Amino acid sequence: MDPDQHIPNRPREIWKLMRSGPLLGRVRLQPAKNSVLKLLAACLLAEGTHVLDEVPGIADVGYVRDILETAGAGWAQEGRRVFVKSPAQPNPRLDIPAVSSLRASVVFLAPLLARCGTVSMPFPGGDDFGLRPIDLHLSALALMGAEFEVNGSGVKVWARQGLRGARIVLEYPSHTATDNIMMAAVLAKGTTVIVNAAREPEVSDLADFLRAMGARIEGDGTSHVSIEGTDSLVPAPSPFVPIPDRVEAATFMTACALCKGSITIENARPEHLERLIEKFDAMGVRCVAASQGLEVACEARLSAVDVPSLPYPGIATDYLPLLTVALSVAEGVSVITENVFGPNRFRFVGELAKMGADITIEGHHAVVRGVPSLRGAAVKALDVRAGAAMVLAGLAAEGQTVVEGIEHVRRGYEALAEKLVSLGASIEQVRPPSATG
Ligand code: EPU
Repeated sequence: MDPDQHIPNRPREIWKLMRSGPLLGRVRLQPAKNSVLKLLAACLLAEGTHVLDEVPGIADVGYVRDILETAGAGWAQEGRRVFVKSPAQPNPRLDIPAVSSLRASVVFLAPLLARCGTVSMPFPGGDDFGLRPIDLHLSALALMGAEFEVNGSGVKVWARQGLRGARIVLEYPSHTATDNIMMAAVLAKGTTVIVNAAREPEVSDLADFLRAMGARIEGDGTSHVSIEGTDSLVPAPSPFVPIPDRVEAATFMTACALCKGSITIENARPEHLERLIEKFDAMGVRCVAASQGLEVACEARLSAVDVPSLPYPGIATDYLPLLTVALSVAEGVSVITENVFGPNRFRFVGELAKMGADITIEGHHAVVRGVPSLRGAAVKALDVRAGAAMVLAGLAAEGQTVVEGIEHVRRGYEALAEKLVSLGASIEQVRPPSATG
């Protein structure tokens, strides 16, 4: 789904890219999109003013702000410090288009259900990777005493007797379902245990934030999370700084792999990137944990490797478009397997083929035959990660590449062009004349 589909005739932002490299210098990561969005939703769990630091100016934060304001919360900002004033009685009816503009809106289900006993919203949207159901969220909430109704326009959930703790064995370690269950459980009666929980670092960041609000959670970061419900929570006593964005880190690692050079990613957390670092090592990219951050260097042509996406700590599905672009110019044949979402995650391969990549899609596998180099072309950004990957392809290609649809990239990256340019990349940003056309 196009996140901007409710804005008619929106002009598209394009970036013009020229072959760049070697990249040299230092960059600093923004906080993780997939943490910040959940932390903002979690503010609804406790009345009062919550303070989050370093909140990035990405489009998805704007959508979440709209949702928070519809729920009755106040929003104030001083630079990147955001103050969310959570009301005594939130509005649980979120019937605004912003909800359908991003997947993360699904994490408003639990806080509003926990606080109001009911919540209704349109279906969450976000990147089009094929079907993105919310059945795991709803069945878990049902085990905790909720009932729900799904119709053509959205979902309504309510809990007449309030939420109660339950043992929930997830069929799949869904990231946002784990977020939702933790947030429902912190205000439920009794203890909730999540078996086969998602282990993503962003889940632990949410758990840290909830603990700072007084929640009792143990085991986050493992597949067995235990939450003891409490009657009420309070805003964290000091401003909360979310963890750095590991997908943005992967983006700069890939940029260095493609354009060569030597860069330092200042606040990267190597412990969140272990499997990815192993893959880059095998491709011939040197990644060394520094006292603070990660040093990345690459001089020679990349080598082919096989890559399967898996839930954390496996290689994240969000890295696949980046790795596909890198491997498209590697020596040899790589097989990239998407195990998390459907083959739609490979839609961008059609765009990469316009640049001379030799890739065949077979079900959920992409067979990538490395070519010596890509050539510039006019291509589209189809979603946030694929869009970033096409930008990097443009920096590695001969001649000029024009990437259209940069709005998708802006959903998750605050200053990607500026940061790449600071490392020596050649990018011209052509913004549309007005935001609404
Ligand atoms: N699934 C179900 N039923 C559910 C929930 C998930 O069948 O109720 C399936 C999905 O269809 C998919 C798989 O389980 O096949 C994985 O989905 P998961 O729920 O783990 O993903 P998500 O929570 O929707 C988050 C991130 C994604 C990231 C994935 C995997 C947010 C807002 N989104 O999505 O991030 O790719 O986890 O780590 O946290 C991105 O940032 O660009 C992005 C897409």
